[in-house]
Amino acid sequence: MVLQTERLILRPWRESDVESLFQYASDPDVGPAAGWPQHQSLEESKEVIQNVFCGKECYAICLKEDDIAIGSIELMLNGHTNLTTRDDECELGYWLGKPFWGQGMMPEAASELIRRGFEDIGMARIWCAYYAGNEKSKRVQEKVGFRYQWTTENVDVPLLHEIRTEHVNSMTKKEWLKRNV
Ligand SMILES: CC(C)(COP(=O)(O)OP(=O)(O)OC[C@H]1O[C@@H](n2cnc3c(N)ncnc32)[C@H](O)[C@@H]1OP(=O)(O)O)[C@@H](O)C(=O)NCCC(=O)NCCS
Repeated sequence: MVLQTERLILRPWRESDVESLFQYASDPDVGPAAGWPQHQSLEESKEVIQNVFCGKECYAICLKEDDIAIGSIELMLNGHTNLTTRDDECELGYWLGKPFWGQGMMPEAASELIRRGFEDIGMARIWCAYYAGNEKSKRVQEKVGFRYQWTTENVDVPLLHEIRTEHVNSMTKKEWLKRNV
């Protein structure tokens, strides 16, 4: 599936994205904020494309003008999220290469993936979380319409061997429809 927004193409990851993935994911300011370590090698980036960015609703974020992958966004379906066990609920996750921050690109991509969740694949609620201190991600979630649900202390972040505090938001289809009349 390929999705489009005003400035972006959201398309499946390809093995040929390995160089651009490594370029942006080797930045220590990107992965750790989302719970994964910065990439150390092209080999690691290749493995991530094959084994992590392979979900049914996982998309490379690309600028329309060059189709180069600059970030990733995913609806993590039941079985791939800790926030729900329902088939009609999922979790939104995302990151963007640092040179592209601050231009509203993630709100643009997230709005389209939320639309896809509710309109195309039958979701009734979408969850989205961020670790305490990640104000940038908090803002993205506020701007696209997520609402605060709860905070969990002492959440295990296995890939980083850390314990953090997590703030959990969600949006129902009803709330989304209200925003989009
Ligand atoms: C969170 C993230 C996806 C935001 O994407 P984005 O496209 O830059 O989002 P926006 O342009 O809407 O900016 C969001 C907020 O970040 C802040 N911000 C933007 N650019 C910034 C920059 N260069 N430096 C510091 N803060 C910045 C602003 O507060 C902005 O909010 P505002 O619009 O109210 O001013 C991006 O910062 C990122 O990938 N971070 C690392 C990975 C991550 O945290 N993923 C989410 C895990 S829950």
